[in-house]
Amino acid sequence: MRKKYIVGIAAVAAAAALTLSGCSTGRTTSGSSDSSSTTIKKGDLIGVALPAKTSQNWVLAGQDFKDSIEKAGFKADIQYADNSSPVPSQQAEINSMLTKGAKVVIIGAADGSQLTTQVATAKKDGAIVIAWDRNILNTKNVDYYVAFNNFHVGELQAQALLDGLKKEKGSGPYNVELFAGSPDDANAPLFFNGAMSVLKPKIADGTIKVVSGQTTFNNASTQGWLAQNAQKRMTDLITGYYAKGTKLDGVLSPNDTLARAILQATKSAGLPNPVVTGQDSETDSIPLIMNGTQYSTIYKDTTLEAQAAVDLVTTLSKGEKPKTVDNDKNNDNGKIIVKSIELSPVLVTKDNAVEAYKNNPDLEKLATANQ
Ligand code: BGC
Repeated sequence: MRKKYIVGIAAVAAAAALTLSGCSTGRTTSGSSDSSSTTIKKGDLIGVALPAKTSQNWVLAGQDFKDSIEKAGFKADIQYADNSSPVPSQQAEINSMLTKGAKVVIIGAADGSQLTTQVATAKKDGAIVIAWDRNILNTKNVDYYVAFNNFHVGELQAQALLDGLKKEKGSGPYNVELFAGSPDDANAPLFFNGAMSVLKPKIADGTIKVVSGQTTFNNASTQGWLAQNAQKRMTDLITGYYAKGTKLDGVLSPNDTLARAILQATKSAGLPNPVVTGQDSETDSIPLIMNGTQYSTIYKDTTLEAQAAVDLVTTLSKGEKPKTVDNDKNNDNGKIIVKSIELSPVLVTKDNAVEAYKNNPDLEKLATANQ
């Protein structure tokens, strides 16, 4: 059983993890009076629409939601988007949840810009819309957003890259390549922009050299977050820029799945192990972190994140006003600043893994066993 006891302390931990920051775009905030008229009671149906299982966090999320929704006394309808046609399948799943009478739809968007019609229908039906982990874009029909601070994830990744380079590759300058997530995921530019806010000054002062010159999100992105796309791009970059003995010191990778694909490409090309970042604390990456192959990951506790969304539903069902924050970097969906519950990501390297995973017996065991 995964860390059941964490659920009990989730509300406290989620509250402790809330961070406040300014709002500067001048957009209005969500969660206005239209949704406060919705009454939710025990036994009501809560729909959870998740994207395809492109990484382990999404696989874990389904069971976490089922457990926490049922424990809170509601009925759960958990659906995943199809791998082959994620957008239309997710749209259909949300429509079907609404037809079944869902009072709340919690959505981890397959493509955050393709749900305008579905969330408009949800609001028309009087349901509450919660964007989960990824924001839903360009619509005013999102009531809340529950997620980790994704811009900060990027900042932590870039800082880890700089620290790892200093530790493992001498004094620099360093040759680095940059990878980003999928363009249809609203989080992907946040991760990349967060990282670039740290790396740009280092590129400008010559500490970091992106040998390929590919420094924009469009250059760096990885369609569908697919490992094979990252592995192919890394292989092409090696052939194009590192074949004649130019050393590759580090790679900014936005998550663990892509980190392993990038490491596979450098290994196949016979290059020395570069410093590679990651995210998600996937069980396949933790041994690689402990043995020094992958430099870092990020811990975003999925159980805690699902529980934060269910706690929000419980609060609303009591007719209480949830504590939310506005943060324009993460929560501006292009139309409104979505009221959010924001959790804090944790940077993990070999040095702090056992400590960082101490609330999660499975991950802690994995880190300890590979020490
Ligand atoms: C999630 C990441 C995940 C990625 C790929 C993002 O939206 O926040 O944790 O690695 O999707 O599935």
